[in-house]
Amino acid sequence: MRSGIFIGARVVVLLIGLQRRSVYGRVGVDTTEVNPILYRIAKRALFMMNPETAHEFTLASLRMAQGLGVLRLLSGKPVDDPVEVMGLKFPNRVGLAAGMDKQGNTVEAFGALGFGFVEVGTLTPRPQPGNEAPRLFRCIPQQAIINHMGINNPGVDRGVENLKATRHFNGVLGVNISKNKVTPNDEARIDYLACLRAVWEVADYVTINFSCPNVPNLCELAKAETAADLLAALKSEQANLSQETGRYVPIVMKVSPDMSEQQIRELAHVFQDCQLDGLICTNTTTSRKGVENHPASAQKGGLSGAPLYDRSNETLDAFAKELRGSIPIIGVGGISTAQQAVEKLRLGASLVQLYTGFIYKGPALVRECAEALKEAALTLP
Ligand SMILES: Cc1cc2nc3c(=O)[nH]c(=O)nc-3n(C[C@H](O)[C@H](O)[C@H](O)COP(=O)(O)O)c2cc1C
Repeated sequence: MRSGIFIGARVVVLLIGLQRRSVYGRVGVDTTEVNPILYRIAKRALFMMNPETAHEFTLASLRMAQGLGVLRLLSGKPVDDPVEVMGLKFPNRVGLAAGMDKQGNTVEAFGALGFGFVEVGTLTPRPQPGNEAPRLFRCIPQQAIINHMGINNPGVDRGVENLKATRHFNGVLGVNISKNKVTPNDEARIDYLACLRAVWEVADYVTINFSCPNVPNLCELAKAETAADLLAALKSEQANLSQETGRYVPIVMKVSPDMSEQQIRELAHVFQDCQLDGLICTNTTTSRKGVENHPASAQKGGLSGAPLYDRSNETLDAFAKELRGSIPIIGVGGISTAQQAVEKLRLGASLVQLYTGFIYKGPALVRECAEALKEAALTLP
């Protein structure tokens, strides 16, 4: 074990040395060559661990590497592709999707890896432990994940405290909020409003998660009438808070990929009537299409990664056709190549987010997507 750590440390030191020299142009090793190799080594070790342990270990390591200034050296300068969406200036079009940094304490590290925006959470008013473990499963051949986490989080106050301590992040910060599991749906708005008020001072935009399949009955809030009531309450509080603070924080709704065409049409009208600021398409799916033969397919939870891509795109396409550019869309679901990120832009998204693809492909995917989107945005209408 000790010798393993020693060898690992030597590899990192050697790679940083090469990287340093490349910065000064003396050795021709650049980040695009080094990072995939480093990630392949790290992934092999991480995939030997239980998925949840690997997640915690990775985030702790990223925080440490960020503290030592190693991440920026390894990743190089983030792709510079400034774009204005929802009145916010994004340094590039690639974001980290919610659920990776649930506590909001690793934002700087993800910024150093090249993400133009990071969405933390989901946070709920009170801390909650989430569902019983095991609740996270890899489907490696399918490049997918099934998660039944159940919005485990430290509570919104703790999340906000962590975010206040974030210093070195130049990107856009989204905060994703929801109700506690024990809060009945007819009191959900109290929880969402409490979270909106709590995160207002730290968030650049706030995402309403009413599409997580791992909280019983949460998706029922997406029925048109219920969603209209909830959104009206949130928009009214947004107006109050804007007036009080002199600062406008856009509200974004994150939708499920498991809705019928009729439901999408109805919701799109609600979003337009309420002047929603932005939409995220999509959360995970309850479908098991594409992983039917994997043993984990019998597990409860939401499926993400490659098998979600088509379904997520259908939802994105349907919303984009209904909304006709009136509300900006962030496309997420199944992106594991730069071309797939570009396809989301072509279907009507302005920005994209990564989660599962980032786990399987590593930080190189962030740069690949950001560069491809920069180029594509020049030619797309
Ligand atoms: C382990 C895990 C935890 C997640 N937790 C959250 C969450 O707390 N809130 C949320 O809105 N989405 C959550 N998501 C959904 C992702 O943000 C994203 O919408 C989804 O995974 C589809 O993108 P992907 O195919 O690139 O992973 C989670 C996804 C995974 C895999």
